[in-house]
Amino acid sequence: MTNPDPKTAPFGSILCPHMAVAHFRDGVWHPYTIEPMAPIAMHPGAHALHYASTCFEGFKAYKWADGSIHLFRMDKHIARLRQSARSLVLPEPEAAQVASMATALVDRCRDLVPDAPGALYVRPLLFGTTPNIGAAATPSTDATLLVLVSPVWDYFTGGAKALRIYIEENATRCASHLGMVKTGGNYAAALGPTLAARRAHQVDQVLFCPGGEVQETGAANFLAIRDGHILTRGLDTTFLHGVTRDSLLTIAPELGYRVEERRFSVPELLEWVKTGEAALAGTAAVLAGVGTLVLGDKSMTVADGASGPHTRALRAALVAVQQGLAPDRHGWLTRV
Ligand SMILES: Cc1ncc(COP(=O)(O)O)c(C=O)c1O
Repeated sequence: MTNPDPKTAPFGSILCPHMAVAHFRDGVWHPYTIEPMAPIAMHPGAHALHYASTCFEGFKAYKWADGSIHLFRMDKHIARLRQSARSLVLPEPEAAQVASMATALVDRCRDLVPDAPGALYVRPLLFGTTPNIGAAATPSTDATLLVLVSPVWDYFTGGAKALRIYIEENATRCASHLGMVKTGGNYAAALGPTLAARRAHQVDQVLFCPGGEVQETGAANFLAIRDGHILTRGLDTTFLHGVTRDSLLTIAPELGYRVEERRFSVPELLEWVKTGEAALAGTAAVLAGVGTLVLGDKSMTVADGASGPHTRALRAALVAVQQGLAPDRHGWLTRV
């Protein structure tokens, strides 16, 4: 471990000293092992290195006040990993195998799960290993599945500054059929436009709105919230079907919100945020308020420029379930 304090280290930069490893060879997944965290041997011709046959997941284990440890919506994340594997024509691991690897590893590293509002971030990673540099149009027959864990902090509990977001109407985050696939290439594709917007407009993130329709940011889904009403893009292949988004949309009606899932345009968003709020939903930040939207050379303040009361209330309701302070009515938690 380079920096043992998750309160000060950048998200994901501390890795626990063990990992879970499984290989798909000769047409079958072999039993996993828990191994010391170390570099892995990889053939230079490995499919993933050349043709990006790789996908991953990210979810959290929370330590409750009584010391017990609970994984949040592991099944939904594993289902998304399997769907990503199918889209990329990678060998699909059994859900039970990924669940046992994650649970065993969290158990092994349980002393490193931070107290709330920290968490242990769980990162399954699947990639094609067949050595063949001529396999651009051929799937990898072999694969490796790893699970890594990283103690992380929740930077938003202290009322972190609301985000400044650039509205990008031209560049796309990724190919439109791959948005719902959590594959490394999508993040590589979004990096250039994100860094360019950061340089030019000093923003935190880019909200991709190809063709003028609001989609998502580089690492989180986007919600507009106004007077008991949540507006977010309806599920399609163009963006990642966030588990946090799904969880918030599930509990929102219980808190009296009406949820509307449909396509909406940038002008509609700008009209909406004159009196409403905007927020980013994802595992890392849970729900983070947007304070400013930048379109071209113009900046618009969202509501009063701070994280709004609806954003804070929805976030608090979800965090309460994750941290065992509210009942788990939907069976979202798995005790380790
Ligand atoms: C592109 C993108 N969209 C949305 C999300 C939010 O997904 P989740 O809530 O499942 O973490 C993430 C984070 O994983 C992401 O990388």
